Amino acid sequence: MLNIAVFVSGRGSNLKSLYNSVPKNKVKIAAVVSNKTTCTAVEFAQQNKIDVFFVSEKIKEGFVSYRQLADILEKFNVKLIVLAGFLKKIPDEFIDKFENKIINIHPALLPSFGGKGMYGINVHKAVWESKSKVSGATVHFVDKIYDHGKIIYQKQVDISNVSGPDDIAAKVLKIEHEILPYVVLKFSEGKIKLIDDKVIIE
Ligand code: GAR
Repeated sequence: MLNIAVFVSGRGSNLKSLYNSVPKNKVKIAAVVSNKTTCTAVEFAQQNKIDVFFVSEKIKEGFVSYRQLADILEKFNVKLIVLAGFLKKIPDEFIDKFENKIINIHPALLPSFGGKGMYGINVHKAVWESKSKVSGATVHFVDKIYDHGKIIYQKQVDISNVSGPDDIAAKVLKIEHEILPYVVLKFSEGKIKLIDDKVIIE
């Protein structure tokens, strides 16, 4: 059994897709972590009796610090952290503590259309403006630079006939809901390996 924590900031469709499609005898969503106290993702977690923690870099009532969060996740035996629409930059010390144990889903084909400010619809607007014929989604390890960590898995989608950024977003979201559960399942089966700094999926 792989215990995971899912970090969210908003709608939570990737959280829902993980919850609904990854076999519960292989992966347990042990905790949901959010920087927002009210959002659809948090509601979903609470409805499904998943422990929720709010995190902030500043001291705020009802929020834990990243240092406290690290202790909590260790207590919960969390072995993989999944950023699923978590839009805050994570402090370096936290990333050091969980080296190669944090993954992120990005709504484009990295290394294109990534970096600071590239999240949500901003990404799809940039892709639309570039007149690209394909987009897609990327699951990658998180390091200290935005959208820069080693790529684990990607899938592309044809966008040659779309009507605008919202249309791209809808097509890409479908891909996200396929590849994030796929990667998490592979982690639970021990089939994702780092060999010579390259990610191999068996
Ligand atoms: C998803 O499209 C995810 O790829 C994106 O935020 C959305 C969250 O949706 N993440 C980023 O843009 C990170 N750079 P969700 O809350 O419905 O899962």
